Amino acid sequence: MNKSKVIVSLDYSNAKQALDFCQKVNPMDCRIKVGKELFTAEGPKLIEKLRKLDYEIFLDLKYHDIPNTVAKACRVALDLDIWMLNIHASGGRKMMEAAHQTIEKYGSENKPLLIAVTVLTSISSNDLAELGINNSVNKQVVSLATMAKDIGLDGVVCSGVEVRELRKKLGDNFCFVTPGVRLEDSVNDDQKRIITPIDAIRAGSDYLVIGRPITESTDPINVLNSINNSINALD
Ligand code: C5P
Repeated sequence: MNKSKVIVSLDYSNAKQALDFCQKVNPMDCRIKVGKELFTAEGPKLIEKLRKLDYEIFLDLKYHDIPNTVAKACRVALDLDIWMLNIHASGGRKMMEAAHQTIEKYGSENKPLLIAVTVLTSISSNDLAELGINNSVNKQVVSLATMAKDIGLDGVVCSGVEVRELRKKLGDNFCFVTPGVRLEDSVNDDQKRIITPIDAIRAGSDYLVIGRPITESTDPINVLNSINNSINALD
């Protein structure tokens, strides 16, 4: 079984680039994330090819719609044999319940983990206020994550800044997926609230979503190995 806590974000625009990367790396050393760009370009056929290479896949499509539509999207996502999928918590309780019930009802023994996006890291308190939400970002994140756990979801996506408080509040039986991870010596790109792999795991993250520090490296295998080794040394 794959024990790596690293999910490599395949932020490519076509299947060739994604498959080139996945053929270089070992599926036992990471999982992979397919998001809106790559999925819109290449669709379920690429997911099938990546599964044939033995990768466990996080389908990052962040569903947000009326409950019936999200439930139906989750139902067909199950046919892709994915490991994890996500929805927006801000779609509300009924939408999250519909997604959860669909996965529970139609998912097999190996059903995917269903996680919620709380507040996107690109959103500030001012943006929330403009949307008519007067909570601080932190308060809104805690409130949505608490609701997601209460409904029975498996976890949330959260930044390294938020994970310690959420872990303390929501306990061990809930999974935290953290993007915005940077190595000590890597550039920040456009990420602002960054955290190193070791600090994210120490703070309570279960999985780290890492893109460019690995995919744009001249030696992705080496970078991935050193991240895995540094995390395993903490056990
Ligand atoms: O290249 P980088 O490591 O910044 O990639 C991070 C990935 O995580 C991207 O696919 C990005 O869209 C995603 N993500 C993020 N911040 C969030 C949610 C998702 O960076 N809050």
